Amino acid sequence: MTWISTAVGLRFVKMLAVGMLGAVLVDASFGGAAETVDYTNYVEIPELEWELAPGQGAEIVETNCTACHSLAPILQHRGFTREQWAAEIHKMQKRYGAPIDEQDIGPMVDYLAANYGKEITWDAKN
Ligand code: HEC
Repeated sequence: MTWISTAVGLRFVKMLAVGMLGAVLVDASFGGAAETVDYTNYVEIPELEWELAPGQGAEIVETNCTACHSLAPILQHRGFTREQWAAEIHKMQKRYGAPIDEQDIGPMVDYLAANYGKEITWDAKN
């Protein structure tokens, strides 16, 4: 055995040792921790129930806008101007294929702008 192959061999042994040590550490931190999780303070988070503010047009929005997603994106995007709400509805139609009757658009824009418009604050309408 020459000095070169010994050096390579030693390095290989060192790599193996480090690798094994790593495996043991990973095993201890993941496997070990999973068994000691304490569920006494486990909290079940209730599903949020989104509800539209009552008002004229609420039902039309509910009917037209909850086929693909919940009310969440609507309530989370409060603060749009009238034009932005109109554009949003247009986007739902054009981009996502929402089947919305033309006659429903006016009342929905009115309702959304009045209840979730730019001037309405989070506190006022929650
Ligand atoms: C045909 C399915 C469909 C219908 C019906 C629908 N949406 Fe959406 N909506 C989507 C999709 C898809 C997204 C994008 C979700 C995402 O990006 O994760 C979205 C996202 C949104 C968002 C978040 C902002 C954005 O532009 O991504 C708002 C606000 C929204 N919709 C409002 C409405 C309103 C108001 C109506 C009723 C007029 C409606 N949606 C009806 C499919 C629909």
